[in-house]
Amino acid sequence: MTRDQQVHEQLSNASDERSDLVRSTGTFEGRRPADLVEPNVEVAIPAIEFRNVNFSYEDKKVLDDLSFQLAKGEIKIILSGSGGGKSTILKLVLGLLKPDAGEILTRTLYLSLDPYMRGRISGVKSYAQGVELGQVIVGATVGEVLESKHPGFAKGDIVQGYSGWQSHAVAAGGAVRKLDPRQAPVSTALGVLGMPSMTAYVGLLDIGQPKPGETVVVSAASGAVGSAVGQIAKIKGARAVGIAGSQDKCDYVVRELGFDACVNYKKGDLLAELKAACPGGIDVYFENVGGDVLRAVMQLLNMNARIPLCGLISEYNATDTVPGPNLRPLLFNRVLVKGFIVSDHLARLPDFLKDCGGWLREGRLKHREDVVVGLEKAPEAFIGLLQGKNFGKLLVRVGEDSTP
Ligand SMILES: NC(=O)c1ccc[n+]([C@@H]2O[C@H](COP(=O)([O-])OP(=O)(O)OC[C@H]3O[C@@H](n4cnc5c(N)ncnc54)[C@H](OP(=O)(O)O)[C@@H]3O)[C@@H](O)[C@H]2O)c1
Repeated sequence: MTRDQQVHEQLSNASDERSDLVRSTGTFEGRRPADLVEPNVEVAIPAIEFRNVNFSYEDKKVLDDLSFQLAKGEIKIILSGSGGGKSTILKLVLGLLKPDAGEILTRTLYLSLDPYMRGRISGVKSYAQGVELGQVIVGATVGEVLESKHPGFAKGDIVQGYSGWQSHAVAAGGAVRKLDPRQAPVSTALGVLGMPSMTAYVGLLDIGQPKPGETVVVSAASGAVGSAVGQIAKIKGARAVGIAGSQDKCDYVVRELGFDACVNYKKGDLLAELKAACPGGIDVYFENVGGDVLRAVMQLLNMNARIPLCGLISEYNATDTVPGPNLRPLLFNRVLVKGFIVSDHLARLPDFLKDCGGWLREGRLKHREDVVVGLEKAPEAFIGLLQGKNFGKLLVRVGEDSTP
């Protein structure tokens, strides 16, 4: 049977599920299809049933089975996982929405892809509500205003909002932030001047509290959060040591970003190399990944060390409970471990923008973007993020960016 025949068979077998989907997308954002103008021209990518699918580092087979097709404003996502997941086929056709009073219609220029999205589509209980099958996947975006019914915005304005994985969206004017393209490239609102850097800023400064001369270690060091952590640590007078997944990434972190050292955790003896890079032990460990990396770091913690617990990306695809590390070093060394979610710290936004904006302008805070072009590339790029394929802040350029 060809793949197309399989698709047709599964579509007819899943007719009940499909009609639910059509109903949920038909009332998308509370609008009836009759409210749509120019139907069948724009696409949104609905949540994919990743729930029981294990596309972990080693599991190449799942990736081979994944295909994406985009034609005539219709997206068909076929997912058949070898990790015990069921095949799911979604079809979605949307048109442009019209803004009501107080709203704006935007065209998406950039979509940010971030690790937290894995939790939103996994079905696992988390700090935020998950995306249901058929809903547009959430995500921060930068967009251009096409039509405004809000007094604070005009056609052509550039805004940062949360339109998710779609090319156009209607948003309440109060839910977006206007950007000034003359201050910085607008894509930076999703990276070095956006949520990932702010995460680094509040996690390191408010929880890690590095002192001059102390050693700060950060994992996923070349990424959006990690790269800012090490540079801010240096600005505050600390030593910065990165942990990253390739020699290229380590070279970038040391040579371009100015970290004191960087260890490739995929090569050699991680504990021995980390020990050599941190002869005075570790005072602050900014945790982004968990697993074996955390296990090694735990053995080098100094008395009264601090661990801002930011993320555990190595566990985001796990289908079983992940064994925890030995906690004894935390007890003996009176270590502070504090989990945090950046959205609880919005009061720090003005300080963050002032400090990081200033450091960026002064050339003390560098950044790197990894941009894929086309919304249809988003699923593949997102899977790559969970495999370390991205190098820098991962963005999707959804529409042409004509800002200066
Ligand atoms: N608490 C919060 O509010 C908050 C906010 C934003 C982000 N975060 C967390 O911060 C961390 C970094 O996010 P980011 O946006 O800056 O992403 P990123 O570092 O730009 O990209 C993710 C990186 O994680 C590493 N990685 C992926 N799978 C891994 C695995 N199995 N084991 C070890 N490393 C793996 C890869 O780098 P390598 O090649 O170096 O392995 C990959 O490039 C994530 O854990 C995220 O959930 C938390």
